[in-house]
Amino acid sequence: MSSDYVFVNDVGPRDGLQNQKVHVSAEDRVRLIKALLEAGIPGVEVASFVSPKAVPQMAGAGDIVAQFIHSTAEISCLVPNQKGYELAKAAGAKIISVVPSATETMNLKNINMSLEETLSVSCDILRQARADGLTAQAYVAVAVECPYEGKVAISQVMNVAQKLWDAGAEKLIMADTIGAANPQQIRALFKAANSLFPADKLAVHLHDTRAMALANTFAALEEGIRHFDASIGGLGGCPFAPGAAGNLATEDLVGMLHQMGLRTGVNLDSLLKVSDLAGTLVEKGIGGRMKTWLLKNGGSLLAAQ
Ligand code: COA
Ligand code: ZN
Repeated sequence: MSSDYVFVNDVGPRDGLQNQKVHVSAEDRVRLIKALLEAGIPGVEVASFVSPKAVPQMAGAGDIVAQFIHSTAEISCLVPNQKGYELAKAAGAKIISVVPSATETMNLKNINMSLEETLSVSCDILRQARADGLTAQAYVAVAVECPYEGKVAISQVMNVAQKLWDAGAEKLIMADTIGAANPQQIRALFKAANSLFPADKLAVHLHDTRAMALANTFAALEEGIRHFDASIGGLGGCPFAPGAAGNLATEDLVGMLHQMGLRTGVNLDSLLKVSDLAGTLVEKGIGGRMKTWLLKNGGSLLAAQ
C-alpha cells in the first residue's frame, strides 16, 4: 500500500521566478525560501546555476545556496552543464538536478546542446555528484509534449530516464514542462516508469496551463507517486518553452492532498501568507485556483496535515 505521506517540493524560487518581468533579488529569494521552510515545506528548489546572460532572474545562485548549507530540509538546485555543476558544488550544494529534455529541439533551445550531448553531459555530472558525495537527481523535461516537436513517445522518455538512472540519478522527475498533459497520459507515463524504476524514486513536475495540474496530480497519486513539485502561488514558466504557463500552485496541491486525508507536514494557513509574499515580490496578484476559498475557510480547517 502506498504511503499517506506526500513530499512537496516547492520550485517557486527557481521555476516560479526565472521567467518573471520583475527580477527578484537574491536577498528577497532567500526570504521567500525561509518562509516556505517555516510553513513546513520539506523541499525547495532554491536556484539554478545557469548563465546570467540567458536568465538574469537567476543571478546570485551561489549566494542563495550558501545560506542554506546547514538546513535539514531538502535544498536542491538545477545545473544544466559542467560549469553549473562546479559553481553549485563550490557554493556548497547538497542536492543537484540535471535538466535534460526528452527531445532534440528542446535541448537545443534550452541549453544549446543536442539530446546526445545533453545526455552525455548530464550523465557525467550525475556520476561526479555521486562521487563527490552529493545527492544527484534528474529531470526529464517535456516528458509528455514538446513545444517544438509535439507529443513525445513514452518509449523515448523511458530511454532517456534509463540512461540517467544508470548514471546514478537518485530521483527521476518527470516534467510536463508546458502543462499539456492530461490524466490519461500521466497515468500511462507512470505505468511505464513504474515497470522500470521504484515508485519512491519517481517524482512529477506539473504545470497548470490547461487547468489539468490537479487532475494530473490525482493520476500520479493513483500510480503511487508521492513526490510532487509545485510552485508557490502557481508562479512559473520556462523562458525557452513557448506556451509554458504557471506551475501547479503549492497551495492547490497541499489543499487537495489535505482534503483527501493525505499528510504533507505543511501548515496551509502559513503557506497562504507565503503565497501573498511571493505576489508582493513579483508585484502582481498571484495564487492557486483554491486560494480564495482557502482564505475564506481557513486552511487549518482541512482534515489532515
Ligand atoms: N553558469 C554560469 N555561466 C555559464 C554557465 C553556467 N552554468 N555555463 C556557461 N556559462 C557562461 C560561460 O562562461 C560563457 O561566458 P562568457 O560569454 O562570459 O565567456 C557563456 O556562458 C557561454 O558559454 P557556453 O558554454 O558557450 O554556453 P552556451 O552559450 O552554449 O549556453 C547555457 C549554455 C546552458 C549556459 C545557457 O543556455 C543557459 O544558461 N541556459 C539556461 C537554461 C535555463 O535556465 N532553462 C530554464 C530551466 S530548465
Ligand atoms: Zn517547470
